[in-house]
Amino acid sequence: MYTIIDSLHADHINFSRLLGALERQVETLKEGGMPDFEIMLDTVDYLQNYADLYHHPREDLIFRFHLERSDVARDEVNELRRQHRALWESTNRVRLAIDGILHGDIVQRDLFIEQISAYVTQQLDHLNAEEGYILPLLRQLFEAQDWEQLNRSLPFRADPLFGPTVDQQYRALYTRIVNVPDAVAESGLGA
Ligand SMILES: [Fe+2]
Ligand SMILES: [Fe+2]
Repeated sequence: MYTIIDSLHADHINFSRLLGALERQVETLKEGGMPDFEIMLDTVDYLQNYADLYHHPREDLIFRFHLERSDVARDEVNELRRQHRALWESTNRVRLAIDGILHGDIVQRDLFIEQISAYVTQQLDHLNAEEGYILPLLRQLFEAQDWEQLNRSLPFRADPLFGPTVDQQYRALYTRIVNVPDAVAESGLGA
C-alpha cells in the first residue's frame, strides 16, 4: 500500500532535487556566471505552492495527530512545526529577491549567494530531520487505523510538477530540472 509516509518521502526526494538545482545555480554565480533567474523563480514558486502550502500543512496535521496521542519526541515535533513557519518566511524572502532581480533590482552578488545557500541548507536540514528521525518514528508508532483515519482527513492535491500532469506554469522547470536523468543521482536522498 502506498502510505502517507511514502508520499511524504517521495516529496522529500523531489524537493531535494530542486534544492540541488538551486545549489548549482549558486555555483554558477560563485564562478562569476549568470544563473537562469526565471528557472530559479519557478523552482521557488513550486516550493512555495506545493511545499509551503500543501506538504508542510499536511505534515502539521500529522504532527498534531501524533501530539494529541503521545508525548514521544514532543520537542522535536514542535521544532519541525516551528521550522515550517520559518521556511514559509524564507521562501517568501527568496522569492522576493529573485523577483526583484528579474525586475531590474541591483543586488549584491555575495549577499544573494549567501541568502540562497542559507535557504538550501535550511530546507535540507529540515528534510533530513524528518527523514532521519520523525518519519521513521511515526511509522513505528502509528497503527493501521491511525493511518486510515489520517487518510480520510488529510487534504490531497496532485503534485503540479512531479505528478501525472505537469501544470502549464511548471513546463519549463520540468524540462530543465525534472526530466533530466542525472538529477536523481545528484539529489543526495535515496529512493
Ligand atoms: Fe516538514
Ligand atoms: Fe516534509
